[in-house]
Amino acid sequence: MAAKGNVRKSKILVAIGTRPEAIKMAPVVQALRSQDWVEVVVLATAQHRQMLDQVLNVFGIVPDVDLDIMRQNQSLSDLTARLIQKLDHVLEDIAPDAVLVQGDTTTVLAVALSSFYRRISIGHVEAGLRTGDMRNPFPEEMNRSLAGRLCRWHFAPTDLAARNLYGEGFSDHAVHVTGNTVIDALQQVASRELEIGVELEEGKRLVLVTAHRRENFGDPFLEICAAIRELADVREDIQILYPVHPNPNISTVARSLLASHPRIVLCEPLDYLPFVAAMKRAEIVLTDSGGVQEEAPALAKPVLVLRDETERPEAVEQGVVRLVGPHREAIVREACLLLDDRAAYSRMAKGVSPYGDGNAASRIAEILRRDLSGAG
Ligand code: UD1
Ligand code: UDP
Repeated sequence: MAAKGNVRKSKILVAIGTRPEAIKMAPVVQALRSQDWVEVVVLATAQHRQMLDQVLNVFGIVPDVDLDIMRQNQSLSDLTARLIQKLDHVLEDIAPDAVLVQGDTTTVLAVALSSFYRRISIGHVEAGLRTGDMRNPFPEEMNRSLAGRLCRWHFAPTDLAARNLYGEGFSDHAVHVTGNTVIDALQQVASRELEIGVELEEGKRLVLVTAHRRENFGDPFLEICAAIRELADVREDIQILYPVHPNPNISTVARSLLASHPRIVLCEPLDYLPFVAAMKRAEIVLTDSGGVQEEAPALAKPVLVLRDETERPEAVEQGVVRLVGPHREAIVREACLLLDDRAAYSRMAKGVSPYGDGNAASRIAEILRRDLSGAG
């Protein structure tokens, strides 16, 4: 416990493992650090190493504890086991009053379980996302469902996410609709003059691609690569920019199938600011990412989702995101439709933001202040 004068400060440990957790937790760390009732301890599990450090640098966050857990091509079980072993000592040493986790990664499940075993209250940022299919996305649907059971606060980004939680029996005292902190982060940077930092041909229309999901490993990812190649073959007016995720199950295949094409630019994962610049410059976005499905609509960019289902149906319902699956023919057809049909394009490029208004983090901080500071 930390003390300021005679007032005892609460201590909140904010756990961050991967790139998207860092982007979405940065506004929460900032919001809590702007208040004087709480001491914030940032724990990086470093489930991701380089991609995590990229984001922490952008937001000026220096972890107080860094488990440096990442190994090349780590397995889910090995990662989970090593995390749980290390986390118990950290939680014992730091003894926080509350722990915050974000999303649905292995870090989230391991931190939530370890905190539960130490009887520490847990808050779940981006709670209540569900597809209803435990194998899709794998293992994230299971991670977030299990972690959710262990939490005291559920910070749901949307009304739909909150309804999912009510349907699982959580009470309305525990569920808070806050918006998604991804929009807070995006709004901090999107209006700046940003450079992509990758050499692109002038006058070509940009198609931005990302892909990394485990359920797409193997044949589905081969189909995605075939679609990217076919699109580049048939469309001389475009250039495809694909920052390749470093997971070897993705990067090895992507580089061997796509590296040699004159209209495909493969690069390392972009830092967050250059990636936002790429989204702003892109005409359309092809992705299986969760975060990109939330960001691109807010930047008025049509998104084709390389998955058969999504836990983020709000943007699909608003007509600005379309599910095309990891299916070559559908990906090429829908991308060409958007490139050729201005009316179809305009209908999807509306600039709606169903995931938040940019104030999610301050709402989360206020709920925690009310419940932990004793200030009512
Ligand atoms: C993880 C999350 C996924 C999230 C994604 C965000 C789990 C099970 N999966 O998937 O939910 O959408 O992060 O990107 O938690 N690697 C590096 N450097 C890095 C990061 C990764 O080299 O900075 C390589 C390593 O070989 C590592 C592998 O990628 O072993 C896989 O990383 P891991 O975090 O286990 O899975 P992701 O596929 O990144
Ligand atoms: N992102 C980035 N550089 C890239 C690709 C993505 O900074 O080269 C950002 C993107 O803006 C989004 C987040 O990473 O906020 C999404 O991460 P990812 O797709 O790895 O994970 P997911 O959101 O699917 O869990």
